[in-house]
Amino acid sequence: MWNTRMKGFAGRTLRTSIVPTEVPVSPEIAHVLDPELVDLITRMPKVELHVHLEGTLEPEIAFRLAEKNGVSLPYASVDAMRAAYDFADLQSFLDVYYAACAVLVTRDDFRELTLAYLRRAHAENIRHIEPFFDPQTHTERGVPFDTVIGGILDGLADGQREFGITSCLILSFLRHLSAESASATLAAAEPWLGKLVAVGLDSTELGNPPERFAEVFARARALGLLGVAHAGEEGDASFVTRTLDSLHVARIDHGVRAAENPLVMRRLAENDVTLTVCPNSNVRLRVVTDLSRVPLRTLLDAGVAVTVNSDDPAYFGGYIIENFTNISAALGLTPDDLYQLSVYAIGGSFADTHRKLELMDELESVFDGA
Ligand code: ADE
Ligand code: ZN
Repeated sequence: MWNTRMKGFAGRTLRTSIVPTEVPVSPEIAHVLDPELVDLITRMPKVELHVHLEGTLEPEIAFRLAEKNGVSLPYASVDAMRAAYDFADLQSFLDVYYAACAVLVTRDDFRELTLAYLRRAHAENIRHIEPFFDPQTHTERGVPFDTVIGGILDGLADGQREFGITSCLILSFLRHLSAESASATLAAAEPWLGKLVAVGLDSTELGNPPERFAEVFARARALGLLGVAHAGEEGDASFVTRTLDSLHVARIDHGVRAAENPLVMRRLAENDVTLTVCPNSNVRLRVVTDLSRVPLRTLLDAGVAVTVNSDDPAYFGGYIIENFTNISAALGLTPDDLYQLSVYAIGGSFADTHRKLELMDELESVFDGA
């Protein structure tokens, strides 16, 4: 509904806060950012459409759960764990990320992980989230599907009660595993269908083409679920096209390499396909050499519905505010851009119309403010 092109909001005045806010701005860019823009980023209601719950596992929680569950981590300390987060590419990150998941064992562990993220989301004024979880990472090592989803749903319910943050949960298949494993995962999810909104596809893109998952995505659609998929992160723009053709997804996660092909960008724009871009992730996983190379401006100029998200914030040095501040500093984003990105996030979310209207009202009250 709001994915139609917006023309900005020329003439609106921005409310400025009197009380200074503490914002996690990277030290190297702090001097470039206008404090009023930082304040706006902090106060604007945010919608996060691309965050992996397993990617919110902070080392402090990992160590506590490791001790409780008698699991050993290959790091001497919390600091050593964080210091090891220097990734050469997507695969080198995934190896670390999957290994750390071993500390998640009980239903309460998954609740704690989820609630810790929601606490952080609340502190950053995120009002609606659509997180992924990777059930196969856990079922493959013997943790029952129901334990995983039960704990996550407990955490989401706690977060909604405590903070008013609404959510749409996305079950993501691991593309480095077989289509049969994805189908078995979907079958395990059938008793929980009412609690899921969509299926997703993540993990190693190169060598694991989307077509292999066409059948399980079709089955998910038949069960009433929507679809999203990672594409155009490691893979080039043709992976975006192939993903749309074979999986018929409503959103593309990352999708930044679509910017290499004007025809692909035109297709995304004409079909209102939302891209969930994650600037810090793109730099940390060396999809681009630095933030100024994240093609957010190119995509916006082509009329693509782009959004800003955090991906795996515990591993990439910052949550959603830091992604907004970093990309704003790198590309010189304006309040108009922030408004447009926010409208795209609300419009591209899977929230119902009533919730979208509430989120739009919250957004307007900040951008229209006295
Ligand atoms: N799983 C977690 N983060 C991911 C990413 N950035 N790309 C693919 N799979 C992921
Ligand atoms: Zn991701």
